Amino acid sequence: MRGKIFKSRIAGGVSLGVAVVSTAVVGLLAAPGAAVGQMAAAAMVAVDPGPRGGPAGAGGPIAGLTALQLSFFNSAQVRFQEIDSVSGTVSGQTGVGLGPRFNGDSCAMCHAFPAIGGSSPTPNPQLRVAVRAGANNTVPSFITSNGPVREARFINNPDGTPDGGVHDLFTITGRSDASGCNISQPDFVTAIAQANIIFRIPTPLFGLGVIENIPDDELRSQEGNVAAPQQTLGISPGVFNISGNDGTITKFGWKAQNKSLLIFSGEAYNVEQGVTNEAFTNERDTTSGCVFNPTPEDNTNLSQGTSSGSPASDFSSDIVNFAAFARLSAPPVQATAADTTGGNGSTQFHNVGCGSCHIPRQRDANSPFGGMSRLIISPYTDLALHTMGTGLQDGISQGVANGQQFRTAPLWGVGQRLFFLHDGRATNLIDAINAHQSSGSEANTVVNNFNLLSPQNQQDLLVFLRSL
Ligand code: HEC
Ligand code: HEC
Repeated sequence: MRGKIFKSRIAGGVSLGVAVVSTAVVGLLAAPGAAVGQMAAAAMVAVDPGPRGGPAGAGGPIAGLTALQLSFFNSAQVRFQEIDSVSGTVSGQTGVGLGPRFNGDSCAMCHAFPAIGGSSPTPNPQLRVAVRAGANNTVPSFITSNGPVREARFINNPDGTPDGGVHDLFTITGRSDASGCNISQPDFVTAIAQANIIFRIPTPLFGLGVIENIPDDELRSQEGNVAAPQQTLGISPGVFNISGNDGTITKFGWKAQNKSLLIFSGEAYNVEQGVTNEAFTNERDTTSGCVFNPTPEDNTNLSQGTSSGSPASDFSSDIVNFAAFARLSAPPVQATAADTTGGNGSTQFHNVGCGSCHIPRQRDANSPFGGMSRLIISPYTDLALHTMGTGLQDGISQGVANGQQFRTAPLWGVGQRLFFLHDGRATNLIDAINAHQSSGSEANTVVNNFNLLSPQNQQDLLVFLRSL
């Protein structure tokens, strides 16, 4: 095996660590006392150990739920996996309301890895859904089998005014349950030629009930706590995105553009799948011949049609179930066994300044759900917006977020993620870190600091990230 035990000096002490130079040896890190060979330190280059194997450290219910809350979670998790067809008449696709335009046909299709509720899986399920039930969609060039699930936004309208909206990839045209509908997909070829298109990949839903319940003053005080290191590193104080109507902080989505799990679920149901619901009641495309159901298609059930084991789930609309699944899900668990750096990786993470945006810990308010009150979690985010420069800019404004601003992406769960950054451009943590650096980015000094670390310290930092 190629690696070497080394000693590194860190603030306040000396730690033992293992430097990994080949992904092939990563599995051995877990074996205490594994023999290690010799290697010239000069040849060492830090590498991303890759997605952590073993069981998914996420996807289940949060600990401490009451029996009724737990059965609600379990039933909601099943609802989250329901596949939609146009009117619920296709075998195996019993959900009602797909289309006329869509990016996917179930929540769990995109929120899938490393467990239901997560981010993009591989291979990309959008290739299958494009032609399911006879649909005759052309798969756009930016959707590939080994690439991430993506949705597309156009930056500008043809007249030059800002667009910013999601343009769904697919239509129901040609499907066996949509006869008479004949609409075309958006012109992605022209949008690409004009550089008028940007992409977003799914963000994971694990632990979001606690995130949802963090009070605004807690977030503001956490941001205040990092003011001094931010100033030294040239980072501006994080800007919170705000709900225009009630004035509170919004937290969800790549630009923190959305207020709550219920609103996000309602919007996703209509935007990603074309299913109208009690939060987003109208079809996005009303072309005649393509609207098959009364609206909204998803409603509160007035009688208990099914018996899932949770009456609350049975009576509730799909969007209430989807939100409950996310709200009652457990935060990703850090695999301490995988962080073999003896704490050095985490120390380096903070020393170079990553933690000035990716704030490790947050705490929520009292909660009606068992186990969720005043819970200290480790999402590694300030949930605020930072200017990320010309390299990452997408030219899309959402709420107070401008075209260069993004929410500090939570780092919990990155140990098992396949794709990184808002458009999934990186599959490797080193690429993801370096993408933070470009003209105008607040993270430039921090990335310089990272690149000045010894390869061993860089390696420890990467091993630490893959333990999250
Ligand atoms: C075609 C893929 C796709 C499907 C289907 C899909 N999503 Fe998503 N989801 C995304 C993408 C992409 C984002 C990031 C969007 C953004 O921020 O611009 C996202 C983000 C989210 C978030 C925000 C989480 C956070 O903290 O950022 C929630 C909540 C969510 N989706 C719920 C759902 C629910 C509920 C469904 C089913 C109704 C669903 N999604 C279906 C792709 C998908
Ligand atoms: C100025 C604030 C800031 C600093 C400093 C910063 N980040 Fe980030 N980080 C962000 C933002 C904002 C994003 C999302 C950017 C995007 O998707 O375009 C992000 C995304 C990431 C991602 C991808 C996560 C995902 O869900 O795809 C990783 C990994 C990451 N950061 C690691 C680091 C590490 C390691 C450091 C220190 C070397 C660091 N970051 C420093 C703000 C920061």
